[in-house]
Amino acid sequence: MTYSLTLWRNARLATLAGSAGWGLIEHGAILTQGETLHWVGAESELPAQFTQKINVTHDLGGALVTPGLIDCHTHLVYGGHRAHEFEMRLQGASYLDIARAGGGIRSTVAATRAASDAQLLADAGKRLQVLMREGVTTVEIKSGYGLSLEHEARSLAVARALGRTLPVAVRTTYLGAHALPPEFEGRSDDYVDAVCAWMPALHAQGLVDAVDAFCENIGFSPAQTRRVFEAAARLGLPVKLHAEQLSDQGGAALAAEFGALSCDHLEHLSEAGIAAMARSGTVAVLLPGAYYFLRDTKLPPIAALRAAGVPMAVASDHNPGTSPGLSLLLMINMACTLFRLTPEEAVRGVTVHAAKALGLSDRGQLVAGQRADFCVWDVAHPNELAYWFGTNPCKRVIVGAQERDL
Ligand code: NIG
Ligand code: FE
Repeated sequence: MTYSLTLWRNARLATLAGSAGWGLIEHGAILTQGETLHWVGAESELPAQFTQKINVTHDLGGALVTPGLIDCHTHLVYGGHRAHEFEMRLQGASYLDIARAGGGIRSTVAATRAASDAQLLADAGKRLQVLMREGVTTVEIKSGYGLSLEHEARSLAVARALGRTLPVAVRTTYLGAHALPPEFEGRSDDYVDAVCAWMPALHAQGLVDAVDAFCENIGFSPAQTRRVFEAAARLGLPVKLHAEQLSDQGGAALAAEFGALSCDHLEHLSEAGIAAMARSGTVAVLLPGAYYFLRDTKLPPIAALRAAGVPMAVASDHNPGTSPGLSLLLMINMACTLFRLTPEEAVRGVTVHAAKALGLSDRGQLVAGQRADFCVWDVAHPNELAYWFGTNPCKRVIVGAQERDL
């Protein structure tokens, strides 16, 4: 016997194989080898040559199994919180007013800089474990609350440490161009120079999987964003963008020009932006938590994105300012209720399309050859993942073929 297999049997599989449909397999089974899916199909069709190689068998009791969930847009590493700004907004102040008055991202930057490494790690770890209990097996974590070389490196290192110490895959994104730090007041072009200059050092330390920016009138202009993207391109790093969240800056078209993995938020996305994203194969990452928490009324152009064939992902955007939630399942529900995605689109949005938004082709579907990351649910049909909210039907989570504690 040259290799051994583990059998996970007696399941209803929602494989999400192919480009549409749930890919349901009744009385399904999964064979894993090492960290990989070796075979997926109906148990009655299990190839005979594999059965003698099975050394462990798990009975899943007829439960629903989906690919592990992927949260492809989070800002998990930060100090403090902004509950007081939430109160100010409830009394009529806008997110923009607060940001312009020096609150917003800047207040979290001050709290992040003041926090110890141990505190940042402990707080982000606690948050990540909440996401994990709902079936998240891969998470993207952005920097962007450090805004100096030292503090951006620290935030990214904390994200990497989480991936080493917890049974979850972490992808890091350098978001130095998130806001202007106070020491660069009135010198935003100089700050963009610094963001670009820090990038090779962060990359050399293995801290950066992708580069992001906040292209907005309270963030960085398209010309400044372009410079950040050019620096990323010089290092061969993929880019993503916080684009057209509060206004149409033409950020999506700019990102598409650089072959961006994703454009995120997109409430103010134009027809031209959609066409550019369709041409470049850029994923639209929808963030219903931020839309909800800011009480936004401008919907992202879902029907036009769908018509153009732009893949849509859904993520938590967890951050202390605009989306302090820690439930990807709630985001699935909100993607349907607020954005009118179908349940299948929303679930694809946190699996297949979320993987694509991170440039990962080895996960997101239950297909032989992919990573053996999957969830076992206490529901009968995958459309229930979009239906129930405020409850967690996740029963078991398997990462790289290893069951992890919930
Ligand atoms: O994705 N849009 C910019 N960044 C965050 C919000 C950051 C904050 O307010 O702290 C977002 O919504
Ligand atoms: Fe964000």
